Amino acid sequence: MSQGIRVWDWPVRLTHWGLVVCIAGLYATGEYGWLTMDWHFRFGYAALTIVLFRIVWGFVGSEHARFADFVRGPRAVIEYIRSLTAPAKSPSTGHSALGGIAVLALLGLTLVQAGTGLFSNDQVSAFGPLSERVSMSLSDDMTDWHELGQQLLLILIGIHVIAVLAYLFFKRENLIAPMFHGRKSVPGRDAQWRSNVLALVLFGLCAGGVWGITAFGPP
Ligand code: HEM
Ligand code: HEM
Repeated sequence: MSQGIRVWDWPVRLTHWGLVVCIAGLYATGEYGWLTMDWHFRFGYAALTIVLFRIVWGFVGSEHARFADFVRGPRAVIEYIRSLTAPAKSPSTGHSALGGIAVLALLGLTLVQAGTGLFSNDQVSAFGPLSERVSMSLSDDMTDWHELGQQLLLILIGIHVIAVLAYLFFKRENLIAPMFHGRKSVPGRDAQWRSNVLALVLFGLCAGGVWGITAFGPP
């Protein structure tokens, strides 16, 4: 049993690693021809559901899951960057001011990427469920955005992972383990928790919404 105060609830941890699996599957199927494009769509719907849920959870979830807990103004971000080299600085309980920006960027870009995917087409056999609901030229534009977006997302994920590893090796702060067991050995108290049942209900609603989109599929 790991020591420390509880920081990340189950929904945050499950959505994080679930998103990692889905995005790995999306690149493997979209870029490297693993399995079929049907699986690209399935991973895409799962990623979209996870991101939608995580956004909702950012408003009603546990203490450190909430946007209000970690989205700060530019001054706080600059102060945090300045304090990074201070040896006595104690680790953040939830996301740091800088980490908050990364969270917004990762969730936002994944949402846009999944959104453009719905309208994309490969002009052969893979047609996003909404691609034939719009004009061919709009669908082609969305496909261009989808191709650009996947490159930007890959860069952002690269920066994210490098940042997490930099904390580990240069600041000797392991952020990865808490993303698995949910606890951190820092001074402070346990975060206020929200019900996992509420999370399940909200996740179900997000999944239902995404299923509703797929039901709009090619006419
Ligand atoms: C975060 C979510 C997603 C990521 C990271 C992603 C990533 C990718 C990648 C890497 C490719 C290959 C692009 C290329 O050839 O340069 C691709 C193509 C494609 N994706 Fe996605 N995708 C996502 C979500 C979706 C969703 C939700 C759908 C539809 C339901 C979708 C539909 C398509 C289609 C139709 C193509 C073929 C477009 C083409 O040939 O250029 N994607 N995607
Ligand atoms: C597909 C790749 C990835 C995506 C899209 C992604 C996305 C995210 C997001 C959205 C968060 C915020 C968590 C939340 O509040 O819900 C986060 C946090 C985090 N991620 Fe990732 N992540 C990816 C890969 C990884 C990998 C491979 C690692 C491990 C090396 C990792 C380690 C972490 C850690 C430690 C945090 C917490 C940072 C903190 O303490 O502020 N991530 N990630």
